[in-house]
Amino acid sequence: MKNTTRELFSRIKIKHRERGARRSVCLALLSFRFSPRDYGFCMSALLLFCLASLFYQWNGGAPRILIELRQYLGESTFVDDHGPYPPRVLPFPSQVVYNRVGKCGSRTVVLLLRVLAERHQFTLVSSDIHNKTRLSKHEQVGLMRNISNLPKPFLFTRHVHFLNFSRFRIEQPVYINIIRDPISRFLSNYFFRRFGDWRGEQNHLIRTPGMKDFERYLDINVCILENYPECSNPRLFYIIPYFCGQHPQCREPGVWALERAKKNVLENYLLVGILEELEDVLLLLERLLPHFFSDVLSIYKSPDYRKLGNMTGTVKKHMPTLRALQVLYQRMKYEYDFYYFIRDQFHLMKKKIGLKSTAPSAPQPSFLLNLPPATQDADLEEELEEDEDLEDAHNWLVQP
Ligand SMILES: *[C@@H]1O[C@H](CO)[C@@H](O)[C@H](O)[C@H]1NC(C)=O
Ligand SMILES: *[C@@H]1O[C@H](CO)[C@@H](O)[C@H](O)[C@H]1NC(C)=O
Ligand SMILES: *[C@@H]1O[C@H](CO)[C@@H](O)[C@H](O)[C@H]1NC(C)=O
Ligand SMILES: *[C@@H]1O[C@H](CO)[C@@H](O)[C@H](O)[C@H]1NC(C)=O
Repeated sequence: MKNTTRELFSRIKIKHRERGARRSVCLALLSFRFSPRDYGFCMSALLLFCLASLFYQWNGGAPRILIELRQYLGESTFVDDHGPYPPRVLPFPSQVVYNRVGKCGSRTVVLLLRVLAERHQFTLVSSDIHNKTRLSKHEQVGLMRNISNLPKPFLFTRHVHFLNFSRFRIEQPVYINIIRDPISRFLSNYFFRRFGDWRGEQNHLIRTPGMKDFERYLDINVCILENYPECSNPRLFYIIPYFCGQHPQCREPGVWALERAKKNVLENYLLVGILEELEDVLLLLERLLPHFFSDVLSIYKSPDYRKLGNMTGTVKKHMPTLRALQVLYQRMKYEYDFYYFIRDQFHLMKKKIGLKSTAPSAPQPSFLLNLPPATQDADLEEELEEDEDLEDAHNWLVQP
């Protein structure tokens, strides 16, 4: 199974490199101070690159990959092989880990998983530890042992940075995950910490009781432009460590962690979806992991689930100024590099599986497309989750 995924991905990787090179040119361009005109120019250039890349991809589909995938999906995989019959292996990935990233819609997915676990009879363990993503070596081994001892098939999910099972000679499970536009995620988290979510006006008082009013009502532009820790690195380096792993360097913003995260995605993740295209993510999960995710889309769209997930966004939220957004974008350049990488991979996977891309590959970060925030962002507001990385909640205000 792993080999098939790897083969699939290695082919995808080659194309990606070329795109990566083009993108880094533009990132380099972006790193200069620019006037709105330059900005417009750069965005047009990006658009051109992306269209060209899309065109390039459309011409290069390999049907063999579909066959491999079909095999992978579990129809007569083992029987017609010449090799020895494998010893009691379930004919589908029976160990799945979803190391969910905060504020990327995982709450929605976990709600769905509860329904699915009952329907398809798999073990679902959703950890309620929300504030401990990195572990000591001892804790890592303990957790991995516990996970691998769950009754199969199982799906384990927790907010935790990637765990390297094979390093400790434990069978490596299949990983899945969902991420989202880094600035959207950041904004969601920023306002969630302050004002809670749809569950009620007083929600935040329970969630962050220690927060002073000064903190709570801190203007996000001030936070960004005056370099408050909450709006600076390393705190903005958030998504990559989930994919990089438990190594301390995984939390240092830089190329090392970025590249390791990418490599890890290619080697260990069956799918990393993007929240902006959640329905397609669910559809792909349904195709790739049918024993876990069959019917997920119909459940997601059913009125009963809608009622359950009735989360009307009431969070007070406003968009930072364009200037602040640009600063943020600069500070999150590694996060964006990773996000674009994931988005490209995801679109390729969609194409390989024969799913029409509903959303065009946007040349801009989606926060720019989402203007004005009041309309588009309301949808994403539904995806807020209940967890919070509060470990630094009380010392975040240390002045720069
Ligand atoms: C593993 O499971 C045991 C028994 O349920 C529990 O006591 C322990 O805390 C778990 N360890 C980790 C790291 O989750
Ligand atoms: C995981 O561990 C294996 C074996 O030690 C090693 O080869 C691999 O590079 C590790 N991967 C990550 C991402 O840590
Ligand atoms: C569900 O949504 C409706 C309107 O969309 C709202 O009036 C109602 O209060 C919501 N229920 C809950 C429990 O949030
Ligand atoms: C995590 O949260 C629990 C309570 O929910 C708290 O007892 C614990 O100290 C927190 N751990 C960290 C590392 O912040």
